[in-house]
Amino acid sequence: MRSHRIASIPADGIGPEVISAGLEVLDAIASRDGGFRLAVDHYDWGSDHYRKHGVLMPADGLERLRGADAIYFGAVGAPDIPDHVTLWGLRLPICQGFDQYANVRPTRILPGVTSPLRDAGPDDLDWLIIRENSEGEYAGHGGRAHRGLPEEVATEVAIFTRVGVERIMRYAFDCARARPRRHLTVVTKSNAQRFGLVMWDEIAASVAAEYPDVTWDKELVDAMTMRMVRKPRSIDTVVATNLHADILSDLAAALAGSLGIAPTGNVDPQRRHPSMFEPIHGSAFDITGQGIANPVASFWTAALMLEHLGEREAAAGLMTAVEQVCAAGILTPDLGGTATTKEVTRAVCAAIRGANT
Ligand code: IPM
Ligand code: MG
Repeated sequence: MRSHRIASIPADGIGPEVISAGLEVLDAIASRDGGFRLAVDHYDWGSDHYRKHGVLMPADGLERLRGADAIYFGAVGAPDIPDHVTLWGLRLPICQGFDQYANVRPTRILPGVTSPLRDAGPDDLDWLIIRENSEGEYAGHGGRAHRGLPEEVATEVAIFTRVGVERIMRYAFDCARARPRRHLTVVTKSNAQRFGLVMWDEIAASVAAEYPDVTWDKELVDAMTMRMVRKPRSIDTVVATNLHADILSDLAAALAGSLGIAPTGNVDPQRRHPSMFEPIHGSAFDITGQGIANPVASFWTAALMLEHLGEREAAAGLMTAVEQVCAAGILTPDLGGTATTKEVTRAVCAAIRGANT
């Protein structure tokens, strides 16, 4: 039997609630499939760990994760700790340390979910956003001088390297090629950003020449927001810089009905290191502990992880079950329903086992 080792890091806020729900449905789909098993290692890293030990994860954290086939991550962030401390203490060191340079964000309107776009249904919005995940404004390059003085300066340098841009373009064209429509939109801002983004465009054009079977177009990021709202059907696969895709993917999630359903994968396409899968939503302290967090993002995340592990059938089976449950109206309050996290989880497990929901 195939065996996959999963490192589970639920971390903060609703993270533990949705990750334990996700592990339950993973268990159900593995039992049904019968061809593989998951060995799960649990890590209690996050803000509590920081309060006790002064760090979000131990110094040898990456070493401990290295043997995993994939990382299943919840959410990090706490009201009493600055966001940049939690982010740079756990999630970014994993993404950067394992060179997970491609961030993959699929968006669809699931059956039973209402989009704020008038008349838009499941056929109108089926996107795959590829976010560059190692450079741009997130490279950590910058600094502050003359702190606290009137002449204080701060820089946040957007880094673009030929290697970094080329590899994300190639990955995006590969993803576009694997989808039925074979179309890629390259998001840019080269009208205003004359160096990094002009190089971005040039590299996009040269990589595109290697993919004659994929059609592509280019869109400025501001115009892209309008196109997403006005002409969602014109979009299929999208590639954008780290910051642009951060913003566009929140818009995408909202247009698909809720941030509570959006999954993501931080992927090392070369598979030198484990990739990390997580819901896009954050720790959501406003609803933590109430039992109403939407587990769908963490289920969809689990499906992405299964696909990455080569368990395509199980991934598809899991998504079918999620879609059945959504279509049956078993939804948490963020989607206008009244179901709890546990009820949605039970319904998805039942759908996986083939019982009526
Ligand atoms: C995301 C999030 C993060 C980001 C935050 C939590 C720093 O918004 O994954 O999209 O900006 O990358
Ligand atoms: Mg974001």
